Amino acid sequence: MDRGRPPALVVQLPGASRPDSVRQNIIAGLTAPAPWVAPKHLYGPLGSRLFEAITALPEYYPTRIEKALLARHAGDIARLAGPAPTMVDLGAGNCEKAKGLFAALRPRQYVAADISAEFLQDALSVLQAVFPDMNLLGLAGDFSSGLVLPDSVGRENRLFFYPGSSIGNFAPNQALDFLALIRGQCSGGGLLIGVDLVKPASILEPAYDDALGVTAAFNLNLLNNLNGLIGSDFDVTDWRHRAFYNAPLSRIEMHLEARREAAVRWPGGERVFRKGQRIHTENSYKYALKDFKALLRQAGFGKIAAWTDERRWFALCHAGAG
Ligand code: TRP
Repeated sequence: MDRGRPPALVVQLPGASRPDSVRQNIIAGLTAPAPWVAPKHLYGPLGSRLFEAITALPEYYPTRIEKALLARHAGDIARLAGPAPTMVDLGAGNCEKAKGLFAALRPRQYVAADISAEFLQDALSVLQAVFPDMNLLGLAGDFSSGLVLPDSVGRENRLFFYPGSSIGNFAPNQALDFLALIRGQCSGGGLLIGVDLVKPASILEPAYDDALGVTAAFNLNLLNNLNGLIGSDFDVTDWRHRAFYNAPLSRIEMHLEARREAAVRWPGGERVFRKGQRIHTENSYKYALKDFKALLRQAGFGKIAAWTDERRWFALCHAGAG
């Protein structure tokens, strides 16, 4: 730990959900006829580490391909982004991908947003040590329902960065709303975004249900997080991870399925889940590249550049605000 330097700054995003509304929201999902939990509760000190491990799995190709595309096209990206952009990373995690672009982009400021404040703080402290002169700002919280950036985020030439096909975790109509929200904050800049493309289930499904069981652990850990958030008594051993491709909807669905009848209690409520009953935890939509470009245009973006790997498994797009 470098003690000479102040820690990187992480501020809570404005409009952060209050604990009682988080609680109400979780309970509403757990007691719904088709139970669900918001995927943001996957991430935390352990969940973010498990996700980091997922990105290193042989079956999980998106991170590797996206990193290769970023490295291969860094020059083009820098030209499209223009000089000294304010880089706003929406879902920064360990900040690895953005870091790889710094040499080419030379950002005036790097703003990293992530759900997990703790994980973000650690990542930014490491980054500040490597780039002592870089203007860094961390934003902790959930921006998916609104994108209100504090005044300390530079306004000129913003480059939003939304990697990892996180856009696929929205339903397409919500994805459109979110892209339009970003477009509204671009102020002449643009968006650099990664998206996973439609492909056979035989490739998609192992990426979300790996042989080592890391994705299963990531999904199951959600139940531990819920126990901490609402005081429930989920027993992880009563549940199993399920992931499958829903081809008509072009999405991977992630569920937790009860291995046996499971009674779950929390202060003020309870639910008995039947054997085989599922809690829906996440979707990951896959796009045809032409459909995704159309979505960007519909959201108000102008010039679009897209790069893909040889197998056309994953795409990286730059969308200009102009
Ligand atoms: N954005 C990632 C994706 O859709 C998130 C993700 C990967 C994920 N693996 C997961 C979410 C497993 C839940 C469970 O690819």
